[in-house]
Amino acid sequence: MNVTASGRRVLVSGAARGLGRAVARAFASNGDRVAVHFGSREEEARTTLASLEGSGHTLVGGDLAEPAGAVAVVDTAAEALGGIDVLVNNAAVNIRHPLAETPYEEWVAVWQQHVAVNLLATAHLSHLAARRMIDQGGGGRIVNIGSRGAFRGEPDHPAYGATKAAVHALGQSLAVSLAPYGIAVASVAPGFFATERVAPRVAGPEGEAIRAQSPFGRVGSAEEIAAAVLWLASPAAEWSSGTILDLNGASHLRS
Ligand SMILES: NC(=O)c1ccc[n+]([C@@H]2O[C@H](COP(=O)([O-])OP(=O)(O)OC[C@H]3O[C@@H](n4cnc5c(N)ncnc54)[C@H](OP(=O)(O)O)[C@@H]3O)[C@@H](O)[C@H]2O)c1
Repeated sequence: MNVTASGRRVLVSGAARGLGRAVARAFASNGDRVAVHFGSREEEARTTLASLEGSGHTLVGGDLAEPAGAVAVVDTAAEALGGIDVLVNNAAVNIRHPLAETPYEEWVAVWQQHVAVNLLATAHLSHLAARRMIDQGGGGRIVNIGSRGAFRGEPDHPAYGATKAAVHALGQSLAVSLAPYGIAVASVAPGFFATERVAPRVAGPEGEAIRAQSPFGRVGSAEEIAAAVLWLASPAAEWSSGTILDLNGASHLRS
């Protein structure tokens, strides 16, 4: 099995900043080689790449809203790394569109963008990476970044909540279909955690209410989420395949 405790070939989508950057750093610190994917933020992605421990990492750009973009990203990453053992589906959009305030044309466009990036790109990257893992014959790991919003509802971001629920369901289907190939698939469902994207909300007037969502009285950190992703991609986590791991500081308890 290629999926050893370190030295794996890892593709992280959306790793220019935020959680993707923290995940890339966690794998690199573990001794893995990472393809740092970016969509539009090449400069920030170069900063991520330069910050990684170890050597043999690579940068790969590409728009994941188009199916052809996913092909280019996986091909480029696999060529640079010599294969792919782990895929982390982190790239996503989260655009505010409360129904009562959003004109229909905008509503349609926002839904299409969420479906294209959050759901379809996750499905397509999973297909492309898993087919390589199958051909390599050494098993593999896919970890999807889902969201607490899939369970709790996202009144101001309904397409986000719906597509993250679909990502969880996709991960469960693939966990079953890919297990015979030694590929484990899991998702994490984080609550609020601090990244550049959400920093203005956490620092702004709603910051106190956001921190109060958790009885710990704080938001999570990207490093806390990345640590769980690293573990779910480890050999020890094979039996967790199909799981959706809550990472929300007890802010939302599912039965
Ligand atoms: N922060 C939270 O509180 C929170 C909570 C629950 C779940 N999550 C999930 O955690 C993940 C990371 O979130 P984050 O806060 O770190 O957000 P982020 O900084 O916006 O990271 C997401 C990345 O996705 C990439 N992306 C978006 N559209 C793309 C496209 N069409 N093609 C290629 N790449 C695209 C962006 O790349 P470029 O910047 O290069 O364009 C962006 O950097 C996401 O899946 C998010 O839904 C976050």
